[in-house]
Amino acid sequence: MGYKDVYADWLADPEAFWLKQAEAVDWIRSPTRALFDGDTPFYEWFSDAQVNTCWNALDRHVAAGHGDRTAVIHDSPVTGTKSRLTYAQLLDRVARLAGALQARGVTKGDTVVIYMPMVPEALIAMLACARIGAIHSVVFGGFAARELAARIEDAQPKAILAASCGIEPSGIVRYKPLLDEAIEIAAHDPEFCVIVERPQFIPDMTSPRDIDWQSFVQDAEAVDCVAVAGNDPLYILYTSGTTGKPKGVVRHNGGHLVALAWTMRSIYDIQPGEVFWTASDVGWVVGHSYICYGPLVNGSTTVVYEGKPVGTPDAGAFWRVIEEHKVKALFTAPTAFRAIRREDPEGALIEKHDLSSLKALYLAGERADPTTIDWATRKLNVPVIDHWWQTETGSAICANPIGIEQLPIKPGSPTVPMPGHSIEVLGEDGEPVTSGQLGALAIRLPLPPGTLPGLWRAPDRYQQAYLSRFPGYYETGDSGFVDEDGYVYIMSRTDDVVNIAGHRLSTGAMEEVLATHPDVVECAVIGVSDKVKGQRPIGLLCLSTSCIREPSDVATEVIDLVRKEIGPVASFKTAIAVKRLPKTRSGKILRSAMAKLADGEDPAIPPTIDDPAIIDEIRQAFQNAGVLKRP
Ligand code: COA
Ligand code: AMP
Repeated sequence: MGYKDVYADWLADPEAFWLKQAEAVDWIRSPTRALFDGDTPFYEWFSDAQVNTCWNALDRHVAAGHGDRTAVIHDSPVTGTKSRLTYAQLLDRVARLAGALQARGVTKGDTVVIYMPMVPEALIAMLACARIGAIHSVVFGGFAARELAARIEDAQPKAILAASCGIEPSGIVRYKPLLDEAIEIAAHDPEFCVIVERPQFIPDMTSPRDIDWQSFVQDAEAVDCVAVAGNDPLYILYTSGTTGKPKGVVRHNGGHLVALAWTMRSIYDIQPGEVFWTASDVGWVVGHSYICYGPLVNGSTTVVYEGKPVGTPDAGAFWRVIEEHKVKALFTAPTAFRAIRREDPEGALIEKHDLSSLKALYLAGERADPTTIDWATRKLNVPVIDHWWQTETGSAICANPIGIEQLPIKPGSPTVPMPGHSIEVLGEDGEPVTSGQLGALAIRLPLPPGTLPGLWRAPDRYQQAYLSRFPGYYETGDSGFVDEDGYVYIMSRTDDVVNIAGHRLSTGAMEEVLATHPDVVECAVIGVSDKVKGQRPIGLLCLSTSCIREPSDVATEVIDLVRKEIGPVASFKTAIAVKRLPKTRSGKILRSAMAKLADGEDPAIPPTIDDPAIIDEIRQAFQNAGVLKRP
C-alpha cells in the first residue's frame, strides 16, 4: 500500500485503523475500542485497555531473547566518554530505580520531576517512572531556576530526579544549586531529591531531602511493571504559550505507544536492532518521543549524544557519531545543519567519514529553509525529510512516510498529513480558504492517538488555547497553506511563540521579565530572523521619563535578567531603547510588523495604527542598533 491508500484506509474507518496499529503494542488488557468520545470536545484513546509503557520499551524485548542487543549508546564528547547499555542492563537499572522509588512511597499517579542533561540516567529515570505508573515531567537543563520552579509548582512532584550538573561548551552548568533555588522559590516541596553526582561537579548534599543516586539504587529491589489504564498519563511536558505560565501538555500511555510504534516503522523506516539517532535533548518533546520511547518501544538502538553539532570538537562531530555507531537515521533541527554549514561550508569534514549506514535525515522543530535542505541533500546524498510537529502532538502531523512510500520532496514543505490528521487552512472567519491561500492551520477533531488529551489540571485553559477559536478543530498556532498536490507549508506562528535554535520560547514570558525592571515602563519582544538559529529575540524598551541612567546600561541589565529568570536557552542578547511602540488605536502592539521591519521587509501597517510616524522611528532604532537587515 502506498501513502494515499494508507491515508484513505484511516479516513474510511479511523477506529479500525487504530485498533490495527494497536496490535504492535503488548497490552495487559487489550482495548475493546480505540476512541472514547463521550465527553467532547475532550477525546481519549484506548481508555479501557491496560498496559505498561516500560514493559513495551524493555521487558518484552528481553523476554523475546534480545537482552544482549544494545538499547542505549551514550556518546559524550563533552566528557570524553562513551558507553553502552544492552536491553538487559537497561532493564535491570530501570527496575532497581523503580524499586527504590516505590520503597520511598512513589506510586501510580504520583508526579516526579526530572532535571538532567543528556546522560543515560535521564532515560532510566523516565522509564522507571513509567514502570511504576508515576507521571514524569522532564525539565530542560537550559532553563533557569524560576522556570524550573514554575514547573515544580504546577506538577507538584513527590520526588525530583536530577544530575549535579550539565556540561556545555561554555562550561559546567551547576544543576543542583539551580534545583535548590527552584525548590526555594516554588510553593511546593518535593519529599526527596535523588542526585546523580557527576565527577565534574560534586554538589552540596546536606539537605535532609537529598539522596545520592548510587546509594539510592544500590540495595534496591528490582520491581515489576505496574498495570496502568490506556488513558493514564505517562508524562507531562511543559511548553511555551503566549504567557509566562508554561502549558503542561499531558501524554497518555496507550495512544502514545500506538503512535510511536506506527511512526518508527512508517515514517522513519527503522527496524528492531537498527540505530536511530535523535540529536536533540530529553527536555524537549523530540527527545521524549525519539531519544527515549520510540526507538526502545521499537526494539532499536538509541543514541544519547551529549555534545553539539559544532565545537565538540568541530563540525565533523555528527559524521563521526554516524560512522562510529552505524546510525541509520538522524533526526535533528535545521539549526544544527546551519551551524555545521557555517563552519564547514564545503562539507570537507563529511568526506573524512564513512556515512554509508545513513539512509535518511529528518528535520523538525522549526521551518527547514530550502537552502539548508539543499545543502544537506547534496552533501549527505540521502533523502532529507522535513516533518512538522509540536509538543502537543507528540509525533509528526505532516511528514514524508518513507517506511510506507517515499513521496517526492518539495523543499520548504514538510510534505503531507499523516493518518489521523485532517488539516484545514482556515481564514479569519473560520471558513476554509481556497487551495494555495495562507491561513491558520487547524486539525479536525478528534486528534489521533498520542496527541494531547488536555493540559495538566487545566481543562479550561486547554479549551481556550486550542479549541475555542475554531469550533470542531484543534488550532495549531501555525499559519501556512496547502498546495495543489496536498503538500502543506508552514510559514509562521500566529501567536507570540518564537523558535530559537529549534527551541520553542514565549516572547510574552520574556516581556514579563523585562517589565519587572524598574526603569522599563513598556516593552515588546519580537523574534527576528537569524542565520543560524532561525530566529532570535529582540527586546524593545520604553524607559521611564525619570530614568537618568544610560539606556545601554538598562539594556545590559534586562539581558542579565532574562538569562537569570528564564535561562540561557532564551538567547536574549539584544535590547533596544525606543521612545514609543507602534500600536493600534485599541492598544495592540504591532509585534509582527516590527519583526518584519527588522527583517528588511515592508510590513502591512493596519490603518488603525495610532501614529504611522512611529514605524519610521522604530526602523531608525533598528538601524542604529545594527539589527536592520537589508531588504
Ligand atoms: N543545559 C544548560 N544550558 C544549555 C543547555 C542545557 N541543556 N542547552 C543550551 N544551553 C545554553 C547554551 O550553553 C547557551 O548558553 P550561552 O549563552 O552561555 O552560550 C544557551 O543555552 C543557548 O543555547 P543554544 O540555543 O543551544 O545555542 P548555542 O549557540 O549554544 O548552540 C546550536 C547553537 C545550533 C549548535 C544548538 O542550538 C544546537 O545544537 N541545536 C540543535 C537543535 C536542537 O537540539 N533542537 C531541539 C529541538 S529538535
Ligand atoms: P515544539 O512544540 O517545541 O516542538 O515546537 C512546535 C513548533 O515548532 C510548531 O508549532 C512550529 O511552529 C514549529 N515547527 C516544528 N516543526 C516544524 C517544521 N517542520 N516546519 C516549520 N515549523 C515547524
